[in-house]
Amino acid sequence: MSVHSKLYEGKAKILYATDAPEVLLADFKDDATAFNAQKRGSIIGKGAINCTISSRLFQQLEAVGIKTHFIDSPAPNQMRVKAVKILPIEVVVRNIAAGSLCHQTGLPVGTVLKQPLVEFYYKNDQLGDPLLTRARLYLMELATAEQVETITHLALQINEFLTNFWQQCGITLVDFKLEFGLDSQQQVLLADEISPDTCRLWDTAEPDSNRRVLDKDRFRRDLGNVEDAYQEVLQRVLQVVDSKN
Ligand code: TMP
Repeated sequence: MSVHSKLYEGKAKILYATDAPEVLLADFKDDATAFNAQKRGSIIGKGAINCTISSRLFQQLEAVGIKTHFIDSPAPNQMRVKAVKILPIEVVVRNIAAGSLCHQTGLPVGTVLKQPLVEFYYKNDQLGDPLLTRARLYLMELATAEQVETITHLALQINEFLTNFWQQCGITLVDFKLEFGLDSQQQVLLADEISPDTCRLWDTAEPDSNRRVLDKDRFRRDLGNVEDAYQEVLQRVLQVVDSKN
């Protein structure tokens, strides 16, 4: 497979065209940003770790009937994906209160939600990815009502699957962000990545509120040992996946 021009460079990935018009190559970077790129740094090995974790999770999700953009992973930090048009919506699912939910509602960190909360944010860096209401989402024509129903249903299904998967890793899935795209047939596919960059993951057996953090909050909040946490998550994912095969 020969790789062609760079199509797009985001904060965490570079997308390249390939020989096949419907196939793109995603190259996962070690670069890390937070707070809308106001904080910048690098997490050594992150690209390969996030790509490997995402690849395994996409394969697991495909196996239970959830359609994703994943094709294969030709190198630890590279993923071949189906070309999709990304919906400009960040879909966040929350099981436990943390992050912006606590800042904006006053709910204490760690509050277990009675049912998962699905939220939509406008994927727009210039505007700082603001929280959307459904009315604003439709006003901006970011998705159709049918697409919103589809992605909400998929997000809840993915949450059920991932909560169970991470539980097998000894990890509590606090919240996470998903992105969806449309393929050439207008079919909704799960896209982007699922990794410690896009999930809040707490070590279930660790009571200490800082030591339990195994995700990008270690970088966001300067908690230290960022690489160790990402490595730990990768090892646990591989162990669980390998035990199923
Ligand atoms: P939040 O509490 O900051 O709104 O984040 C909710 C979840 O979404 C959390 O798991 C981190 C993830 N997330 C991203 O993947 N990208 C982002 O740009 C932001 C702000 C959050």
